[in-house]
Amino acid sequence: MTQDELKKAVGWAALEYVPQDTIVGVGTGSTAAHFIDALATIKHKIEGTVSSSEASTERLKSYGIPVFELNAVDGIEVYVDGADEITKHMHMIKGGGAALTREKIIAAVAKKFVCVADASKQVGVLGQFPLPVEVIPMARSYVARELVKLGGDPVWREGVITDNGNVILDVYNMKIMEPKQMEHDINMITGVVTNGLFAYRGADICLLGTDTGVVTLEP
Ligand code: 5RP
Repeated sequence: MTQDELKKAVGWAALEYVPQDTIVGVGTGSTAAHFIDALATIKHKIEGTVSSSEASTERLKSYGIPVFELNAVDGIEVYVDGADEITKHMHMIKGGGAALTREKIIAAVAKKFVCVADASKQVGVLGQFPLPVEVIPMARSYVARELVKLGGDPVWREGVITDNGNVILDVYNMKIMEPKQMEHDINMITGVVTNGLFAYRGADICLLGTDTGVVTLEP
């Protein structure tokens, strides 16, 4: 199976975790896009969605699926999103699509985080994938110097402005042995909006697409 077929398989498998008549949190990226396609087939069974990016909002609306502002909803039962890397502890690196801040906010609100990923995303130690950090534009150089002190090699994702009007630094060569500590330390740098480590609020369950089918991982 191709990587995209594996992503499609888990995107559709996530439908099983969507409770009826609730607000569904929707992530960003190519795997989340498959989930949106699947969600469209049961759109009359849900109240609506909260979206983590303009791109996902556009796709949801193209299907006629209601998209609510987060501030307008009381809660979110389930949040479905992809990952760039995930460990057996359900810690993740996210933000390859630059939507990490909104993703982290919705994940914080949601009762259950269902991660959907193809098998290539499963790792023993986080950090092979460059860690995205969303930064207030005027703080870019300062934050980059601080990230070097933490042992990383930050690279400005030139030309990319997030949905929140900020910039992204991708931090290479970080071997992240203590994800919670690193998540905390990076967030303490003034000018950082947030970073793509999802360790404090990891996934509750991961649907992993493999050549032999969808495997369910739990911490
Ligand atoms: C976007 C994300 C995505 O979930 C992550 O990049 C995975 O993307 P894909 O499903 O396309 O592999 O965090 O900010």
